[in-house]
Amino acid sequence: MTEENWWEVSIPVREEEAEEAANALAKLTGRGVAIVPASSFSTVVAYLPATTPAEKLLRFWAEGERWAAGKIEVRRLQEKDWLTWWRREYHPFRVGKRLVIKPTWAAYEPGPGEVVIELDPGLAFGCGTHPTTRICLRLLEKWLRPGMKVYDVGTGSGILAIAAALLGADWIWAIDEDEVALRVARENVARNGVADRVQVLRGNLLEGKEEKADLIVANLTAELILQLLPQAAKLLLPGGLLIAGGIPVERKGEVLSSSPLVLVEELAEEGWVGLVLSAR
Ligand SMILES: C[S@@+](CC[C@H](N)C(=O)[O-])C[C@H]1O[C@@H](n2cnc3c(N)ncnc32)[C@H](O)[C@@H]1O
Repeated sequence: MTEENWWEVSIPVREEEAEEAANALAKLTGRGVAIVPASSFSTVVAYLPATTPAEKLLRFWAEGERWAAGKIEVRRLQEKDWLTWWRREYHPFRVGKRLVIKPTWAAYEPGPGEVVIELDPGLAFGCGTHPTTRICLRLLEKWLRPGMKVYDVGTGSGILAIAAALLGADWIWAIDEDEVALRVARENVARNGVADRVQVLRGNLLEGKEEKADLIVANLTAELILQLLPQAAKLLLPGGLLIAGGIPVERKGEVLSSSPLVLVEELAEEGWVGLVLSAR
C-alpha cells in the first residue's frame, strides 16, 4: 500500500459476534480485517482503499451497521499513520517458553534458548497479540518436532509458518487466499531468513494439496476449521497432528463432534480455544 490512502473503519460489535462480523466484513473488503478485543465488546477494524467505489463503500457500511453495537468510527489513514501507530503500540513480547515476537523496528537481545520472530504485520492478520495466534504459537512450541513437514493454513503475516521454521521444521507450506497476506508473509519469511524452507502459496484451505504432512496448523474460524477437518485427515501422516485455532470456546463441541481426528490437547484463552487433534 505505497502512497495510497485508506479508510479505517472501526465497528464495535458484541464479543460473541465478533468472529462472524469480521468474516462478513472481510468478504466485502476482500482483505483481512482485525478483531481488537476489549472488556465488554470487540472492535472489528477494516481497511478500505480511499479509491473504493461509493457503491462498494455503501454495501460495506450497510453490513457494518448490521453488526454494530455502537457508533462506527471512520478515519482517513495514510501509510505513515499506520506505521506510527504500530511503532507506538507494538513492542517485543514473549509467547510460551521460548518464542519472542519482535517488531522489525525494535531492538532485542535474545536470552539463552530464545527463538526470535521478527515481524512487520502490515495489513495482514497475525502480529501475535491476538489470543488465537498466541494459543497456536504455544501449541506449536510444544508439539512441533525438528524435521517435520508442516502446512500453515491461513498464514496471514506468516507468523506461525516462521515459528515452525525457527523451531526446526524441515518444510512449511504457508497458504492464504488473500493477496495482501501473501505479500506480507513473503516479506516476513525472507526477513527471518527461512525462505529456503517456507513456501508461501495462494490457496483455499488445503484444496488440491497432495503432499502429506506431520503437522497442520490453522488459525481460522470455527466454520473454516469444520471445512478443513476432512482435508486435514487425508493429508496427515499416521500420528500427525492438527493444531486448530480461532475456535470460540462455545463452538468447541461442534468441532469435536465433527472431527475424524482424536483430541490430544486443548488450550483456552480469553474465550478462544486451540485444539490439538491427532490422526489415528
Ligand atoms: C485469523 S488469520 C490468522 C493469521 C495467522 N496465521 C495467525 O495465526 O495470526 C486467518 C487468515 O486466514 C486467511 N483465510 C481465510 N479464509 C481462507 C481460506 N479459505 N483459505 C486460505 N486462507 C484463508 C485470511 O486471509 C487470514 O490471513
